[in-house]
Amino acid sequence: MPTLAVIGAQWGDEGKGKIIDRLSEGADMVLRFQGGANAGHTISIDGEPVVFHLIPSGILHEGVRCLIGPGVVVDPEECLKEIDSLRDSGIDVEQRLGVSGKAHVIFPYHRAEEAWMESVRGKRSIGTTRRGIGPAYADRIARIGIRIFDLLDPGALSEKLELSTRLKAHLAEQCPDRAGDLEPARLLETYRALGERLRPYIADVESELAAALGRDARILLEGAQGALLDVDHGTYPFVTSSNTIAGGACTGLGLAPGRIGHVLAVVKAYSTRVGGGPFPTEVTDSVGERLRERGREFGATTGRPRRCGWLDLVSLSYAVRVNGATGLAVTKLDVLDGLEELRVCTEYRVKGQRRSEWPENPSLLDSLKAEYEQMPGWTADTRGARRTEDLPLESRRYLDFIVERLGARLDVVSTGPDRGEEIWHHRPW
Ligand code: GDP
Ligand code: IMO
Ligand code: MG
Repeated sequence: MPTLAVIGAQWGDEGKGKIIDRLSEGADMVLRFQGGANAGHTISIDGEPVVFHLIPSGILHEGVRCLIGPGVVVDPEECLKEIDSLRDSGIDVEQRLGVSGKAHVIFPYHRAEEAWMESVRGKRSIGTTRRGIGPAYADRIARIGIRIFDLLDPGALSEKLELSTRLKAHLAEQCPDRAGDLEPARLLETYRALGERLRPYIADVESELAAALGRDARILLEGAQGALLDVDHGTYPFVTSSNTIAGGACTGLGLAPGRIGHVLAVVKAYSTRVGGGPFPTEVTDSVGERLRERGREFGATTGRPRRCGWLDLVSLSYAVRVNGATGLAVTKLDVLDGLEELRVCTEYRVKGQRRSEWPENPSLLDSLKAEYEQMPGWTADTRGARRTEDLPLESRRYLDFIVERLGARLDVVSTGPDRGEEIWHHRPW
């Protein structure tokens, strides 16, 4: 059975959680491979939203093994909070969840460092989720990171905390109110205890994955964020600190590249972005407001209003290419209901010249203008549609236009947040 990666093709919040929850119905294993609790993946069950930040979105399904891989940065408190809340609702999390010992741990000093860096950046702040993601990944690369394994070994933890807190001593000066976050003895006590609570969940993720591949299991790789937030391929420096594209699953899990069979790119029917950075198709007038209200575009992690705009086929073509997307999941089509006219960006204009390619240097994005094709909207309600025949003709044309330009197969169209509000064309299993 080919392994399926589900990734975001825009700036995150495309509706990955919902699609992964639905695909998990037939899956054996769901793995997170990058990011951390900066993600907010929503599953809506009979109108009730459930949001996962760290735990894979397949966790609500019995018999599905959910794994947090070595490439993820784990905030133990957040992880345990999600575990407790799942346990309270009667889910046997201990059976279902595994966390790699190799995953790096987020400490309070990472959050303090991030808050300080953002304040120094001032007007150029990234608008991060303030979950300590960037500093934790930076420590991993600088080889001063502390891993889940270390939480279980007091000697190693003590030694490593001494080193990292020494290297970060300057933070006490920059943010005196956070000096307590740099006290090794205090951190040792707290994080040893958190490690003990996490102990039952620690798993050899790479071996489990290899065994699952060996028995031809149905494996889902759950991307977080989106292609345009990828640290190398996104709108740097307004990006997250990991490789969000499908290739990130190989490095984040120790998965051989050839083992990813399909890549399903989740594409919201319009664009949103939360935080700073370029956004060529942003709309700040009443249309943007309408998309935000109808689409409930408020961050699942920080509650911040998301910036909204038209669909951008230039950036999406690039996202399809760098991910090797084989299929598309177009979500939130229903949010466009009632708009008289739709715009789709098909080209950019830079210094009077048209270009249809995403620029190699993202700083160019500040000076370019989006060029649009206009398409008629539709007045009929698509919310909850489950068959193509139930969609208004104009919405079908909109979908056809996207699919034709992106050159990938349309696997599913989502027409509402709830389970079942989809039109499936191709299912992986
Ligand atoms: P993710 O980070 O990619 O998982 O997406 P989020 O959960 O952050 O944001 C997507 C939001 O849209 C959530 O509130 C979902 O419940 C909701 N949603 C997902 N699919 C649809 C859809 O087809 N229609 C509508 N109206 N809402 C959707
Ligand atoms: P999901 O998985 C949308 C954005 C932040 C900020 C930038 C860097 O729910 O799609 P970070 O805290 O990662 O250092 O912030 O990335 N960002 C997201 N935007 N959805 C997400 O995740 C995001 N995770 C991070 O808003 O602009
Ligand atoms: Mg989200």
